[in-house]
Amino acid sequence: MGMAINQLPRIREECEVFHLSEKQCREIMSRLHNDLVKGLGKDSHANSIVKCWITYIQDLPNGKERGKFLALDLGGTNFRVLIINLGENHFDMQSKIYAIPNHIMTGTGIALFDHIAECLANFMKEHFVYEERLALGFTFSFPLKQLGLTKGILQRWTKGFSCSGVVGEDVVQGLKDAIARRGDVQIDICAILNDTTGTLMSCAWKNHNCKIGLIVGTGSNACYVEKTENCELFDGEPGKPELLINTEWGAFGDDGTLDFVRTEFDRDVDVNSINPGKQIQEKMISGMYMGELVRLALVKYTRMGLLFGGRGSDLLYERGNFYTKYVSEIESDKPGDYTSCMEVLEELGLSHATEADMAGVRHVCECVSRRAAHLVSAGIATLLNKMAEPRVTVGIDGSVYRFHPHFHTLMCEKIAQLVRPGIQFDLMLSEDGSGRGAALVAAVACREREVQA
Ligand code: BGC
Repeated sequence: MGMAINQLPRIREECEVFHLSEKQCREIMSRLHNDLVKGLGKDSHANSIVKCWITYIQDLPNGKERGKFLALDLGGTNFRVLIINLGENHFDMQSKIYAIPNHIMTGTGIALFDHIAECLANFMKEHFVYEERLALGFTFSFPLKQLGLTKGILQRWTKGFSCSGVVGEDVVQGLKDAIARRGDVQIDICAILNDTTGTLMSCAWKNHNCKIGLIVGTGSNACYVEKTENCELFDGEPGKPELLINTEWGAFGDDGTLDFVRTEFDRDVDVNSINPGKQIQEKMISGMYMGELVRLALVKYTRMGLLFGGRGSDLLYERGNFYTKYVSEIESDKPGDYTSCMEVLEELGLSHATEADMAGVRHVCECVSRRAAHLVSAGIATLLNKMAEPRVTVGIDGSVYRFHPHFHTLMCEKIAQLVRPGIQFDLMLSEDGSGRGAALVAAVACREREVQA
């Protein structure tokens, strides 16, 4: 065998496009800050890219919520139904995951809601509450213009969904109608909320400093507690000094704001998605796209002769074949060890990869995931600086944050660098994400209804 030239230095050079300098991060922060202010402003809101929807969640849970509640969680890779029993200082939760088949994700809204209602009814039977009248919290993780706690108009689908007849409609009504069409179960939909909100609520139950909810999963988004005086947009009763805002920052960049750091790979992912031009920040960060970004880079470097001796594979050249979970697996290998990396490459028909190739592949993964962590950190630092509180806990959920071996550490380091001196923060993994949060919101809403009655 001839001496192979070590191509790693050239791969490193190519990967520079994924690197965000501190200066670029700060520029991103100032642009995001402007977009957040625009989103919250009465006159600027309509044309704003980052929407900053008001959630109408009035109170964080105080730990005194009691009773049995149902919750639905729709919007990631899975659809979940949950039942939660809140007791003193403990809760008991059971849940079941249901598939949303592809034809339903891209079919009609009616079929989607009928499917959800059917899963719900089956779940109630299995848990012996089919005859009971229960309150339900609905986590619906798409951009919603909320008009109240139980009314939300879908603005756009994201993350591969595209059911017809739902954009512009009230999603709660859609679900109510489907339940009524069945006519067998009795459900009070007490709240509809975003998964970021559910995550925040879930963490706030235990940690009262929790004022930001973040998802780095299939999609990317954050919500945070804002002073009512900064929310011109809000036209409800003043009363409360603070409001919970769903930023929908995944849309950041849809007007070209992020073009100065986007790469050819980002443009490729976007152009070939079902929502081109939309959710630009999300497409640079989240689990639905991260693996594909890596794959596109690997393909380019292979064609340049920098990887695999220039010989790729049919599987590598085909869209969608490099899963985001591979990135987490490959980066979980210890330094100098390539066990997971080798497995992934074998799965992709690349068993001719040398150790140098594996080092190259790992480097690409590291650059793409590090950029994602830095972009998320720039977003969180922007919120922390805007809130200007001495100490805030960020409640986090989502597959990328949960399963990537270094995401948490990368975020801690980057946020610390970007945040204003004197502001402290903690990053807290949500134990059971948005599902429990939805039940809690339903519980708080019920608590309030009882107080009013
Ligand atoms: C949705 C958000 C959601 C995020 C994380 C985005 O695509 O627009 O509403 O919070 O994904 O699931």
